[in-house]
Amino acid sequence: MILLDGRKTSNDIKEEIAKEVQEMKENGERVPHLAAVLVGSDGASLTYVGSKVKACERVGFESTLIQLPHTVSEVELLETIHDLNDNDEIDGFIVQLPLPKQINAQKVLLAVDPEKDVDGFHPTNFGKMALDMSTFIPATPFGILTLLERFKVETKGKHTVVIGRSHIVGRPMSILMGRKGFPGNSTVTLTHSYTKDIKAITLQADIIVTALGVPGFLTADMVNEDVVIIDVGITRVTDETKAKGYYITGDVDFENVSKKASYITPVPGGVGPMTIAMLLKNTLIARDRRSQSGK
Ligand code: GUN
Repeated sequence: MILLDGRKTSNDIKEEIAKEVQEMKENGERVPHLAAVLVGSDGASLTYVGSKVKACERVGFESTLIQLPHTVSEVELLETIHDLNDNDEIDGFIVQLPLPKQINAQKVLLAVDPEKDVDGFHPTNFGKMALDMSTFIPATPFGILTLLERFKVETKGKHTVVIGRSHIVGRPMSILMGRKGFPGNSTVTLTHSYTKDIKAITLQADIIVTALGVPGFLTADMVNEDVVIIDVGITRVTDETKAKGYYITGDVDFENVSKKASYITPVPGGVGPMTIAMLLKNTLIARDRRSQSGK
């Protein structure tokens, strides 16, 4: 079994990005600038956004964190987005999800300038992804593809089963794994809450990508020998014996499934750190594109 070590791989990518930023500085060029909008103070969202900002500092990017109260109106949030769209200093930005109930998330995603949409959630970018056009690939799927690529995991002709159809992970993964090229050329099955007898399907899988958020969902009896496991689940489980009062766990019964797997991502330390590295990569791409168009 080979561990798909996202911590090490993401550190490698961050070092590569930091080198590019250093060269930009030496050439007197403006460095990439990422902004993040956080609405409210949900613990997990605060942690994610904090990690994104910290990662920017580490590679030498500029970063801006805009925190809005959970009571913010949709109009105010849309104004913030328009300001970021118009601000020439900002190369890319994200609006951390989920958003409070009073805000229509679809309206928000549509308001983001596709050229600055480093999350890749705008329909223009999502459509381009589906059509194999150059675009921003959402950070978590981009991170999974990069892990498969760097560990040279064969995907051609394999059966990839994706569990969960979220717009952030499951849906884009199902599109990307079926695209031409590497990683891709897979036969894809997208499963969800209405799928009947999911075990019968996972037992036919060469690669399983699970993005459910249900701890221990995927058990050893549901997988074949030599399966490749990508665990995207990140659930906080309350545990008073831990310093933080919780521990993080994935969708996979790691202890038992890892005995059968050829490759497997750990949680934490697998897909999570890759997501942040790929957001930085998308921001670097945004900066390059903008500088080519004279901005
Ligand atoms: N919430 C959970 N994952 C993500 C992500 O990748 N981007 C944003 N903006 N919000 C998220």
